Amino acid sequence: LYIGVDLGTSAVKLLLMDGKGQIKKIVSREYPLYFPQPGWSEQQPEDWYTQTMEGIRELLLDTDKSQVAGISFGGQMHGLVTLDEQDHVIRPAILWNDGRSFEETDYLNEVIGKEKLSEYTANIAFAGFTAPKILWMKKHEPENFRRIAKIMLPKDYLAYRLTGSFCTEVSDASGTLLLDVKKRQWSQQMLQICSVTEKMLPRVYESYEVVGTLRAETAKELGLSGAVKVIAGAGDNAAAAVGTGTVGDSRCNLSLGTSGTIFVSSKSFGVDEHNALHSFGHADGHYHLMGCMLSAASCNKWWEEQILKTTDFAGEQSKIRRLGENRVFYLPYLMGERSPHNDPRARALFLGMSMDTTREDMTQAVLEGVAFALRDSLEVARSLGNHISSSRICGGGAKSPLWRRIIANVMNLKLELLENEEGPALGAAMLAAVGCGEYPDVASAAENLVKVAGTVEPEPELVQKYEERYQKFREIYPAVKALY
Ligand code: XUL
Repeated sequence: LYIGVDLGTSAVKLLLMDGKGQIKKIVSREYPLYFPQPGWSEQQPEDWYTQTMEGIRELLLDTDKSQVAGISFGGQMHGLVTLDEQDHVIRPAILWNDGRSFEETDYLNEVIGKEKLSEYTANIAFAGFTAPKILWMKKHEPENFRRIAKIMLPKDYLAYRLTGSFCTEVSDASGTLLLDVKKRQWSQQMLQICSVTEKMLPRVYESYEVVGTLRAETAKELGLSGAVKVIAGAGDNAAAAVGTGTVGDSRCNLSLGTSGTIFVSSKSFGVDEHNALHSFGHADGHYHLMGCMLSAASCNKWWEEQILKTTDFAGEQSKIRRLGENRVFYLPYLMGERSPHNDPRARALFLGMSMDTTREDMTQAVLEGVAFALRDSLEVARSLGNHISSSRICGGGAKSPLWRRIIANVMNLKLELLENEEGPALGAAMLAAVGCGEYPDVASAAENLVKVAGTVEPEPELVQKYEERYQKFREIYPAVKALY
C-alpha cells in the first residue's frame, strides 16, 4: 500500500492506494490560513505536521499497517520555511500566494535583471517565489534571517520531520528561483544573490527517489514499520500532473484549486521568450511549462461565502442558463496575479453591471473571469508552438459541470475527465509506488493507472461567443493597471 499526502493551502488530503491503483480510502484535515496584512499569507508548519500525523492515523484505522510500503507528497509550492540550528521553526511559513516581497521581486527583475535570472534559473522573479521572500526576510527581519540554518519547502518540512532527511526534489525546488532548472542543481549565482549557502538548502532528488525511511519514534507513533520508505514527491502541480497522466511530451493539465494552473509537460527543456510561463522540472524526470493564477476556485469561494453568504455552490450555479450572453466581466485578481501579468498589486474587479444585472450574472462572471484568466496563460503556451487541443482537468473547481463547460468553451479545449480524479494526492501515491519499485518509471505508472472516463467537448457556437468576450476581457487589465 502507498500513502499520498497532498499538503494543500486549506487542508491536507491523504490517500491510500494499492499497487494496482485502487483507492482504498481518502481523508482530509484542515488547518488555518492567516492573512496578517493585506496581500500577506502565512501558515504554521507545526499545523501541517500535526494534521498530517493525525490524518495518517485516521487513514490507516482499519488497515493492516504492515502492508504500507511507501509514503510520498504533493505540496503547495514556493512557501518559505526556515529552521534554526536547533531545528525550531523561526517564523510562520510565507506562502505561495503572499505578495509582500514585491520590492525584492522588482530588485531581482530590474537590478539583477530578468536576463540574468533566466540564465541562472530559467525563470524570472515573481513575488510568490521563495528567493524574493528570503530577501524580504533579510531586509525586514534581520534577526530572524541571521538564525537561518535550514531553508525548506512546505512538503519537504514534512519529509524532514518524518525521516530526518533534509531533502527536496526538482519540481518544487524549481519554484524557489534558486535552482538551475536545466541542470537540476542549485544555482551558485542565485545563492550568492540571496546570501544563502548551499548548506542551508536541502539535497535535490528526483521526485520518485527514496529520501529515507521513517524515524524510529515516528514509525512507532504511527504503528508502522521503520522500513516504510519515504519518497521525495513533487510540488502539487507536478504531482497533480502525474495523477492525471500528464507526463511525457506536450500533454496539458488544468488545475482549479485555490490557485489555477495550466501545466504543459515536455521531454525537453524550454523557456518562453518573456518568461511569462514558469519553466520547471517535472516529476517524471523531464520538464514542464506552467502558468499560475493566484485565485481560481478561491474566487468562487470568496464570492459565494463572503459576499452571497451561502455554501450552496451547486444551487447558485444551477440558476445560470445563458452562457456566452453575460455582460458582466470579473477580473479574478483577489491576491494580485502571477501569470501572465506578474503584478502583486493587482486586485479583483467587476465591470459592466446594469440595472437588470442579476445575482446569477455575477456568479457566472466569476466563473468566466477565472476561465478567461486561465486562457491568458494558454495563449502564451500556444504562442510557443505548443499545439494544445485537449487537456485533463483536476481540483475542487473541476467538480462543477457548469464550470468545466465554461472552461472547455472559453479555452476551446476538449476536456478529458478521469475515472479517479484525486489530483496531487493520487500523483503522490503513484510516486511512492514508483519509488518502491512497483512501476519502473512515472510514465508507466501513469499509463497503467490513469483512465479517461468521459469528455467535455467545446461547442462551436459558444466558442465563438466566448472568443468575442475574451478579446474584450484582455483589454481590461491593461486599462486599469495604473490604478492599483
Ligand atoms: C504554483 C503555485 C500554486 C501552489 C498551490 O506555482 O504557486 O499552484 O502550488 O498550492
